[in-house]
Amino acid sequence: MNEIDENVLRVRGREWQAFGQRKKARFVESAFHYWRSTGFPHYELGRQEIAREYRNLSRQPVAAIQETGVAGSTTGLRLANYFQPHMWSVRVSRYLSPHEVFHNDMMLRAAIHRSWTIWPDRYGANPATLRRMLKTYPGTASVSNFRPTVARSVLHHFSQDSDTVLDFSAGYGGRLLGALSMKRQYIGIEPCTPQVTGLRSMLTSMTEQGASGSGEILAGCAEDVMRLLPQSMAHLIFSSPPYFNWERYSDEESQSFIKYSTYEDWKQGFLEPVICQSMRILKKGGKFAVNISGGRRKPDASDVREIGSAAGFRYIGCIPLLITRVPYLHPRNDVPHKPEAILLFEKV
Ligand SMILES: C[S@@+](CC[C@H](N)C(=O)[O-])C[C@H]1O[C@@H](n2cnc3c(N)ncnc32)[C@H](O)[C@@H]1O
Repeated sequence: MNEIDENVLRVRGREWQAFGQRKKARFVESAFHYWRSTGFPHYELGRQEIAREYRNLSRQPVAAIQETGVAGSTTGLRLANYFQPHMWSVRVSRYLSPHEVFHNDMMLRAAIHRSWTIWPDRYGANPATLRRMLKTYPGTASVSNFRPTVARSVLHHFSQDSDTVLDFSAGYGGRLLGALSMKRQYIGIEPCTPQVTGLRSMLTSMTEQGASGSGEILAGCAEDVMRLLPQSMAHLIFSSPPYFNWERYSDEESQSFIKYSTYEDWKQGFLEPVICQSMRILKKGGKFAVNISGGRRKPDASDVREIGSAAGFRYIGCIPLLITRVPYLHPRNDVPHKPEAILLFEKV
């Protein structure tokens, strides 16, 4: 087999598992050389695929928000991620990033081997499967985007056509994409330079697609930029602030976990001002929806509730986000969902 033979991408796990040891190793080596010469398997979407993904998202029925929570499909996620290639190199806590695993020769070989071993039905070395494997390789963790379908559900339930929606930590554009697929005027604030580039590029691309909504991205720190925004300008404030220092989105000074290195300083310097400014910027009767990661990660729901109430918000409740876990990673864990949630408040 030629060292950079594309055929290796069309071998399923089952087929590979039937090979003898030497042939298996040869295929792993061949896939390894293919990916070394091609580079990281970033999403690649052509104009037609972008148009199709956008259409699918905007036609998707809006998911109900129930007592048990809100579950959104992954429609639109690939499109949002496509504009944020930087996501793959972000460090989460002490874990390796998918980018680091890919660029380590030993780990890349092991990742390909593992992929063919655990997924008999998949093409183990193709871009989609390799991305999945790099995200879930032992000792690795990656950041995730906010599901555009869940964003649509929140936007549908808590805002109306032509409303202004403010997102003070715009992240990887899941909420921007959701808003653009509906008639909303989205304003996002984000300090991370590569993310701002990706968000603006999504905006241009979706505008070319004839997006229903409009948007604007303000580059900077929420705690500074929000002070400059007019009072009562937003009908809904909906965001996913950093999980303190759990995810290290970039090493720029503007990152809140770098500006405020202890959790107490972070609460005082970032979280409190942002929540207080939200109170000022939101119209009366408007909702304030904050995504938290839950579990052991900061900020604690109780801190957000306490600061929200002190700022004058009425706490409405917690909407669990029913995001399924990757089953093979959690064989002994009965909890099928991540502990993420949206805390919902109202300006009365
Ligand atoms: C939870 S993450 C976003 C990832 C997330 N899952 C999403 O919604 O796409 C939080 C975001 O806050 C941004 N951030 C960090 N410091 C900030 C600051 N001072 N002001 C506003 N946003 C900040 C990070 O760059 C990151 O994009």
